[in-house]
Amino acid sequence: MIETYVKILSNTCITPGIFLLRFSSPGLAAEAKPGQFIMVRVNDGIDPCLRRPFSISGTEEEGVVRVLYKVVGKGTEILSNKRAGDRLSVLGPLGKGFDITDPGQHLFIVAGGIGIAPMFFLSQAVNKKAVTFLAGFRRSDEIMDPASVGIKQDISIATDDGSMGYHGRVTDLLEQEIIKQRDNAIAIYACGPLPMLKALSSISNKYRIPCKVSMETFMACGLGACQGCVVRSASALDQISYYHVCKDGPVFDINEIDWDNI
Ligand SMILES: Cc1cc2nc3c(=O)[nH]c(=O)nc-3n(C[C@H](O)[C@H](O)[C@H](O)COP(=O)(O)OP(=O)(O)OC[C@H]3O[C@@H](n4cnc5c(N)ncnc54)[C@H](O)[C@@H]3O)c2cc1C
Ligand code: FES
Repeated sequence: MIETYVKILSNTCITPGIFLLRFSSPGLAAEAKPGQFIMVRVNDGIDPCLRRPFSISGTEEEGVVRVLYKVVGKGTEILSNKRAGDRLSVLGPLGKGFDITDPGQHLFIVAGGIGIAPMFFLSQAVNKKAVTFLAGFRRSDEIMDPASVGIKQDISIATDDGSMGYHGRVTDLLEQEIIKQRDNAIAIYACGPLPMLKALSSISNKYRIPCKVSMETFMACGLGACQGCVVRSASALDQISYYHVCKDGPVFDINEIDWDNI
């Protein structure tokens, strides 16, 4: 793990409200695994005082790290106003990422909204043919072109309003695709909003398909010290136990989480 000041190379709006940040950090780029994240201090003042967590969305040659983020509040608004040449304090890579050793299965990469950020890095890293990448958005104007983040990968799109691609939830599209692949060994790796992850839990159990998910919870420290990010584990024991998403995750086997109590 590295705590360092990095120099911003670019910070570009690629679709309304969504920015691609690129900065140079050879050490971080060399260590980063898909599914891991960084904690970013968005300014040197005290407001906001907490770092903000962002997935690593990809790396480039010469030690460049990519972060794809959506502007939702004060921290991301401040970040979106940074320019090339500005410096940022960054801590990472943090957490446990996706296992990318090839188990020979057909891999479904499933993303919902800005949950696509770590999945771009994953698709860059797995680099095999037996991958189906599905991404769901509310509307077509939220979709980002994979080429704009340096990814050459076909992605099947689902939109809630039917303005592009499959009309409906990405999890419904996934079920259709799973049925086509029934004779093959399949695994699902996913990141997206909570309702999507809950739907994936049902699909994973219904078709008995292994599934790993990257979770996004509120995080204060990102290091396992504050309890800010805990979720209940699906422990078979009577006693309740918790995971720190920042340290034990953010990637979990879907059956490790108690989805009814989140
Ligand atoms: C491990 C991890 C990886 C993440 N990766 C990315 C990423 O790659 N790209 C990206 O755009 N975002 C990512 N996020 C979410 C990102 O951290 C938050 O959007 C950001 O911290 C919001 O900061 P803010 O100051 O702009 O918003 P705030 O002012 O803090 O909050 C604004 C709104 O966003 C909601 N919000 C804030 N944080 C979260 C969160 N963690 N989960 C759900 N809702 C939240 C709040 O409820 C509020 O409605 C990730 C979160 C985690 C935990
Ligand atoms: S964010 Fe502090 S313990 Fe996880």
